Amino acid sequence: MDKSALYKFSSGLYVVSADDGTRKSGCVINTGLQLTSAPLQVMVAVNKENYTEGVIDAAGHFALAPLTQEADMPYIGRFGFRTGADFDKYPDPDTKRTVLGDPYEEKCAAAVLACRVVQRLDVGTHMVFVGEVADAEVLSDAEPLTYAYYHSVLKGKTPPKASSYVG
Ligand SMILES: Cc1cc2nc3c(=O)[nH]c(=O)nc-3n(C[C@H](O)[C@H](O)[C@H](O)COP(=O)(O)O)c2cc1C
Repeated sequence: MDKSALYKFSSGLYVVSADDGTRKSGCVINTGLQLTSAPLQVMVAVNKENYTEGVIDAAGHFALAPLTQEADMPYIGRFGFRTGADFDKYPDPDTKRTVLGDPYEEKCAAAVLACRVVQRLDVGTHMVFVGEVADAEVLSDAEPLTYAYYHSVLKGKTPPKASSYVG
């Protein structure tokens, strides 16, 4: 089997984040997707070993922000290679919050969605959360960051906890 066939799939890069009242975190994902428009639903696939997964599960809601090409490797590294288990990714007390209370950064984000978890699907290493969109806001007209741009221009790597990790 030639797993590089999966490299032909297109996707964007997002930060999914949540606050369950005691813990907060967010991580980079390339598995954000709009599922339906009525009701407006999106999905995210989050590795069960990511700190963010447990926070979303406990909170029952999450914020989903598509990144722009303004996101450089240090920015992606903060959300995609470090863990909220030992590092506060939202240290600013004035961090923006969605209507559901989840933290997000306007910097490097094209938009933000506030999502209520309406379904969970256990797919083994990852948990798929289906979110109904309670609110949505456009934050920037900068070019959205695609996974292809991340690989070809930023020369970024795919860490083991990403759904698309090949090994
Ligand atoms: C380009 C890229 C794509 C990623 N895609 C996913 C993904 O789709 N799902 C996932 O759970 N983690 C994905 N990750 C890995 C998480 O962002 C990473 O494990 C992060 O450090 C988890 O942080 P946390 O422990 O605070 O949740 C990706 C990382 C990068 C850099």
